[in-house]
Amino acid sequence: MRIISGIQPTNVPTLGNYIGAMKNFVKIQNEFEDVDLLVFVADLHSITVERDRAELKKNIKTLAALYLAIGLDPAKCHLFIQSEVPEHTELSYVLECNAYIGEMERMIQFKEKSAKEGASVRTGLLTYPILMAADILLYDADKVPVGEDQKQHLEITKVIAERFNNKYGDTFTIPEPYILKSGARIMSLQDPLKKMSKSDPNQKGYITLLDNIDEAKNKIRRAVTDSIGVVKYDQENQPAVTNLINIYSNLTGESIESIEKKYEGLGYKEFKEDLANIVGDELTKIQTKYNEIIKSDILNKVLDEGRDYAHYLAVKKIRKVHKRVGLGRE
Ligand code: TYM
Repeated sequence: MRIISGIQPTNVPTLGNYIGAMKNFVKIQNEFEDVDLLVFVADLHSITVERDRAELKKNIKTLAALYLAIGLDPAKCHLFIQSEVPEHTELSYVLECNAYIGEMERMIQFKEKSAKEGASVRTGLLTYPILMAADILLYDADKVPVGEDQKQHLEITKVIAERFNNKYGDTFTIPEPYILKSGARIMSLQDPLKKMSKSDPNQKGYITLLDNIDEAKNKIRRAVTDSIGVVKYDQENQPAVTNLINIYSNLTGESIESIEKKYEGLGYKEFKEDLANIVGDELTKIQTKYNEIIKSDILNKVLDEGRDYAHYLAVKKIRKVHKRVGLGRE
C-alpha cells in the first residue's frame, strides 16, 4: 500500500497540523504493515500567495527537520521536497486539461483564500487542487492522511482521476482520504469556530511546534473557554472546552470520557494547567530532537534519498501518462 501526504512550508506547523496530520504519518509508519510512505514539503503550493523568499527557504528546511523530529524515520519512509521532483508540475498541467474551471471555483479554500487576496488572486490559487491531485496520482497513492479541511481537495482528486481513467484507460489508482475522526479539525485557541491556522494574524490562536515553551503554555492558559465551568465534551454548547479536550485526548491518548471524569468537580484552571504541561512536554520532546537534527548534516542525505526515490516513481508514471494522452513521439 502506498501512502502520501504533504504540508505547506508556510510558517512553522501548528498543533493543528501536528494532531490532524503529522502525528498520523508517524502512526502509519509504525503501525501499518507493508506501507510505502512518502511525505513531502509542499513548497510549490505555498507560492500561490505572496511569500518572502528567505522566509520560504527557512520554512522548507524547518519543516523537513520537523518531519524527522516528530519521529518519521528515513529508514521507513521517504521524505522529499515537492519542487525537486519536476514531474509534479508536469502532471499537474496534463490534469489541468482534464479539469474544469467551474470545479476549481467551487473549492471552499479557493473561495476563502481568494476573498482575502482581493483583486490580485493568482491563477495558481485556482489551480492549486489540481497540483494537489498530481502530487497524489503521480505515485498511485492508495491513502492520503490529511485533516478535515483537505477533504474537498481529495474528492476532486478522485473525480479527476476517474475522469482520466475513463477517457484514456486505467492509469491512476483512485486514492482514499485517511481522516481520523478525532483531531481532524483543531480549532483556534481564541475562536473555537475558526480552524487553528498557521496563517492566522492572531498569534494567540495557534501554537507552533517551535514556539517558546513558556509562551505555548501561556497560550493554553489564556485560551478562551465559556462561563459554564464544566470540563465536558459538548461541541454545540461548549466548543472551546471541547477543542481543548480534543487536544488533550490526542496528545495523551486518553479517552474523552476518562478526561471528563478526571476533571469532574474541578474548574477550567486545573484542566488548563495540566493541558499546558502536556503541550509543553510534547513540544520540548520535539524541539530537543529538532535542535539535534538542524545542527547535523543528516537532513540533506535524507532529502536526497527521498527525492531520488520519488523521482524514480514519478518518471515512470509521467511517461505512461504522456503515452496514454498521445504526447511526444513514441
Ligand atoms: P496544510 O499545509 O494547510 O496543512 C497540512 C495538514 O494539516 C492539516 N490541518 C489540520 N488538521 C487539524 N486541525 C487543523 N486546524 C488543521 N490545519 C491543517 C491539513 O488538513 C493537512 O493535512 N494542500 C495541503 C498540502 C498538500 C497535500 C498534497 C496534502 C499539498 N499536496 C497532497 C496531501 C496530499 C495543505 O495546504 O495542507
